[in-house]
Amino acid sequence: MVMATLEIAGGARLKGEIEVSGAKNSILPIMAASLLSPEPCCLQEIPQLTDVRMMQEVLQFVGAKVSLSGRNLWLDGAEVVPQEVPPSLMRRLRASNLVMGSLLGRFRQVRVAYPGGCAIGSRPMDLHLKGFLALGAEIREDHGFIEARAARLRGADIHLDFPSVGATENIMMAAVLAEGVTTIRNAAKEPEIVDLQNFLNRLGARVKGAGSDVIRVHGVPRLRGGEYQVIPDRIEAGTHLVAAAITRGRVVVKNVIPEHLEALIAKLREAGVRVETLGGRSALLVEAEGRVRGVDCKTLPYPGFPTDMQPQMMALLATAEGTSVITESIFESRFKHVDELRRMGAQIKVEGRVAVVNGVPRLSGALVEATDLRAAAALVLAGLVAENTTVLEGVEHLDRGYECLDLKYEALGAQIRREAARKAAGSMRGT
Ligand code: EPZ
Repeated sequence: MVMATLEIAGGARLKGEIEVSGAKNSILPIMAASLLSPEPCCLQEIPQLTDVRMMQEVLQFVGAKVSLSGRNLWLDGAEVVPQEVPPSLMRRLRASNLVMGSLLGRFRQVRVAYPGGCAIGSRPMDLHLKGFLALGAEIREDHGFIEARAARLRGADIHLDFPSVGATENIMMAAVLAEGVTTIRNAAKEPEIVDLQNFLNRLGARVKGAGSDVIRVHGVPRLRGGEYQVIPDRIEAGTHLVAAAITRGRVVVKNVIPEHLEALIAKLREAGVRVETLGGRSALLVEAEGRVRGVDCKTLPYPGFPTDMQPQMMALLATAEGTSVITESIFESRFKHVDELRRMGAQIKVEGRVAVVNGVPRLSGALVEATDLRAAAALVLAGLVAENTTVLEGVEHLDRGYECLDLKYEALGAQIRREAARKAAGSMRGT
């Protein structure tokens, strides 16, 4: 397959307006949740993302009818059967594991190959399985597959050792059609969990408490169909805030929910970036004149600083005045972008989950490679401000979670072009 690359000529200050698309991390669990209903669902304003297409293939494999017409995604679970889902499908997308909760919830059985995921650390499912066990399922793991079966699913009181987003979502879905009440304690509080609750309730479920650390699910006999539009993607929005800051530009980011970005906005303001809410609190103005100040940053479960913004923040702090200490407390190896930023002249030292970033006045363009979605975003941001040209390989990672990011930044003045794989790419390696 001819691998695309992005060629970025650094130096342009981003100026203008940019619109945020629907949240990938709401769409994926909600697509999985649609399997709980035998009736058609419609998700509106769906961005073109590779992850959405991969989830579509997983749902179609188990018999759902899924089609995109314009920006509307139609899902019909009438003919879904709990088919064993093979590694070829499960390994391409970590979020494919979210079909476990809905298939178990509706059919009382599910068998899937272990899921894949980006290169950001081993992604166990022990908390998911602990929830399924508590609801009355028996779990078997063999030949690289996980199987859950239950004669009946009964509401249970479940405490999560860690507020895992996926485990919270999977247990919510498995509990929706169970008998009785399920309580999930120490639940994840991300806005995407609230979105999933609202979608499930739109279909006739009885879920409450999402957004807090105690979620209660009252089982119902069946779900109906329904329409839904997800919240804006707070990580895409955050990436744009950083893009404006790192290029010392002035950008209005539209279709945002500022409350979902509080930790990031506070950190950017601490670094000297101007961030103002506009337009009835649905847009943010972000502006930076010169280099930002170094700040310390620790990723935490929501509402703390989001791990999905850590690579992008590191790119910004690599050009800051002063030293920053970044602590990644969610994933055990989410610093794969550090080596690539170093190729561009960044001065970063990593000790376990801590990265010490000594800001430099300028980065220089280089041939760099993305290893996961947010690392790809960070390298685009670094390329926007680096001297000369940056060539980013592994653009397919970027397209998993950002819709036409190159075109969106080109519209703000960036010189960024998508290229077919370069034969002479190796020649840049020496720079
Ligand atoms: C979701 O992943 C997001 N993905 C991730 O976004 C995000 O980084 C992550 O939540 C944290 O916010 C989607 O929503 C599709 P977790 P998820 O379960 O559910 C450990 C992106 O870039 N853990 O909250 O997989 C796990 O190893 C992606 O959009 C267990 O130990 O995250 C990790 O260290 C990347 N046992 C931590 O919890 C379990 O059973 C957080 O994982 C489950 C998780």
